[in-house]
Amino acid sequence: MSETSPTGTPNVRADDRSDAPRRDPLELFLTWYGEAEKAGAPFVDAFALATADATGRPAVRYVLFKGLVAGTLRFVTNFESRKARDLEDNPRAAIAFFWPATGRQVRMEGSVARAPDADSDRYFEHRDRVTQLGAWASAQSRAISTRADLVAALAERERQFAGAPVPRPLHWGMLAFTPTMVELWTSGEHRLHDRFRYERDGTGWRVERLAP
Ligand SMILES: Cc1cc2nc3c(=O)[nH]c(=O)nc-3n(C[C@H](O)[C@H](O)[C@H](O)COP(=O)(O)O)c2cc1C
Repeated sequence: MSETSPTGTPNVRADDRSDAPRRDPLELFLTWYGEAEKAGAPFVDAFALATADATGRPAVRYVLFKGLVAGTLRFVTNFESRKARDLEDNPRAAIAFFWPATGRQVRMEGSVARAPDADSDRYFEHRDRVTQLGAWASAQSRAISTRADLVAALAERERQFAGAPVPRPLHWGMLAFTPTMVELWTSGEHRLHDRFRYERDGTGWRVERLAP
């Protein structure tokens, strides 16, 4: 049987036999995020994103968290980058946040799809103009000869869009990561850390405590 939180979010199963927190792990994630921010953690929004291509070759890099929308973690990128190409061939991904200021790690596994175009547009509109032009100028993850080439590409886009708003390039936008597993880890004394693993179970979550 699953409970529903006051916000309507499906909660963890009430019959789990563990002493894990019986709250939606994504609500807990947001609480932890806020606490890390308050503790002054630098780059609190940076998370490692691991992908694998169609042959299973893994790759990992940091990206920035842009909000939790309808159970998905949002980030923005170039759709022709290596990560986006990996995700088109194999949508499975894993992510990890680490906040040293609060001694906490959040790991998630799940899959990635494109967010609605309207969300990408709204986000792009609020970027500063040079950053918008940069999205046109940089063919992310492709080889370029010199930094001067990049600067020249930016200048060319400045000329192209002079005196007009910069539209969002179709090769740039927002991706949405849907977690099916969330692990919340808190640093404990003598390496007796607390680990709680939440797995999607219908509309709720099954939770268990893991040995550290
Ligand atoms: C702290 C930090 C935040 C970053 N944020 C982003 C981001 O939000 N989106 C992005 O495309 N790249 C971001 N990058 C750059 C990526 O780590 C990576 O170099 C780039 O996206 C190309 O990766 P790929 O070739 O695997 O696609 C960030 C790098 C760092 C160090």
